[in-house]
Amino acid sequence: MASSGDRADKQRQLDEFRVDPRDSALTTDLGVRVDDTDNSLSVGERGPTIMDDFHFREKITHFDHERIPERVVHARGAGAYGHFRVYDDSLAEYTVAEFLRDPSVETEVFVRFSTVAGSRGSADTVRDVRGFATKFYTRQGNFDLVGNNMPVFFIQDGIKFPDFVHAVKPEPHNEIPQASSAHDTLWDFVQLQPETMHMMMWLMSDRALPRSFAMMQGFGVHTFRLVNAEGRGTFVKFHWKPELGTHSLDWDETQKIAGKDPDFNRRDLWESIEAGNYPEYELGVQLVPEADEHRFDFDLLDATKIIPEEEVPVRPVGRLVLDRNPENFFAETEQVAFCLGNVVPGIDFTNDPLLQARLFSYLDTQLIRLGGPNFTQLPVNRAVAPVRNHHRDAYHQTQIHQGRAAYHKNSLSGGCPAIGAGVDGDGVYRHYQERVDGTKIRKRSESFADHYSQATLFWNSMCDWEKEHIVSAFRFELGKVEHRHIREGVVEQLNHVDHDLATRVAEGIGVE
Ligand code: HEM
Repeated sequence: MASSGDRADKQRQLDEFRVDPRDSALTTDLGVRVDDTDNSLSVGERGPTIMDDFHFREKITHFDHERIPERVVHARGAGAYGHFRVYDDSLAEYTVAEFLRDPSVETEVFVRFSTVAGSRGSADTVRDVRGFATKFYTRQGNFDLVGNNMPVFFIQDGIKFPDFVHAVKPEPHNEIPQASSAHDTLWDFVQLQPETMHMMMWLMSDRALPRSFAMMQGFGVHTFRLVNAEGRGTFVKFHWKPELGTHSLDWDETQKIAGKDPDFNRRDLWESIEAGNYPEYELGVQLVPEADEHRFDFDLLDATKIIPEEEVPVRPVGRLVLDRNPENFFAETEQVAFCLGNVVPGIDFTNDPLLQARLFSYLDTQLIRLGGPNFTQLPVNRAVAPVRNHHRDAYHQTQIHQGRAAYHKNSLSGGCPAIGAGVDGDGVYRHYQERVDGTKIRKRSESFADHYSQATLFWNSMCDWEKEHIVSAFRFELGKVEHRHIREGVVEQLNHVDHDLATRVAEGIGVE
């Protein structure tokens, strides 16, 4: 069966890089046996340390350079390996992606869960969005589903992302507050950018306080496109549903846990896997035929909107099991590089302007975070699919390319890597042929203009105690905002969502 082969391929690949230092002699980086690593070489017992001590210099130099930049967002995370398999071949009519249409294929995955705003050492149980990023090592190349635990996002266009992140991160003058939504800059951004309102409702709900990574939903957020063998596209939204159900902590619990065990969520993930209680998630899809693109009262390209499940039900298609902890946090969880641009045949993008910005941003940031373009050669990032191209050299090149010709086309190095012969379903990536025609403008479609209806829908779908928690969260967070006009501005926005909500929040924060 193809399945075990795929898992084994990734395992074998990782095995090649494993280093077990037990029972071996201490050496320098170049294999010279070391006689003493506790005393530096000096002139006499009390004299100066001397430059001859190459072991001392190498040891300290390597240590001095151990840190790499943390991710600009989602710096704190925890990862695990696992496997994914579809239930049946029912998606074959929509996509040529083998891992989505062939139930005999088991695909190895690496998942990284994260918080967004805090630094690498911040606490797990803060009020925040959680990242849910999945790398599928498929036989057609790596596919990354880089999602969150909430189905919408704060902004509609990625060009606002630096503004949003500057507002949400600790304030620049004193780097306070660490990993908290309770500060003026965030709420200033919110009151001035009404498109944030739907996501802010999710953020102020208990969804922002997951009890466990294994009890949290995941969403691809954007509308993507599946493409079948005839080149026909179907819009798709991806959903992860946890087998254990979706559960949250209570606000008061999160505060106590953050003090007593800042690693609460990552410890739980690690220990569950060690104990054999493997977190499981079901992959679901919402499919929308292209003919229905304009059927909704919102725009499918607007990442601040969900497709209500009453209108398009979520169809369960496969199962993900996380069953192995990484062996080294830095090598695997820290060096993993997710990117929206990592797609395989049968999956394509849409013109969602948030998605389009992300296509640029991840690779760009990883070039600096991971030191140049060869990070795809790091064990956790390597594809199990064969890799052959004319990319050469650069920092941290680990491969010894053979032959004298590194260009296409050439007649010297035994020919060129084969280019797709043009047969559908042959494993070649072909971009979906979308007709695009228009004028260059900086203006968003009117179909993106409704910022409140789905925020109201969310509020109305809450029961009484859930509403109570949301009101308390707004009161707590806004209560810490120093500037009155910002508090008033947010209440004004909330009034567009629901009058009762706005009134209850206003009462708690001294705004009339
Ligand atoms: C990192 C999700 C929007 C830029 C991440 C990660 C996740 C994520 C899960 C962490 C990946 C990991 O674990 O390594 C999302 C979602 C978004 C969104 C669901 C909206 C739907 C954006 C936008 C931008 C952006 C609009 C920029 C235009 C970044 C950057 C990183 C990141 C630079 C750090 C990547 C790295 O250093 O490897 N995002 N994000 N994100 N995101 Fe986003």
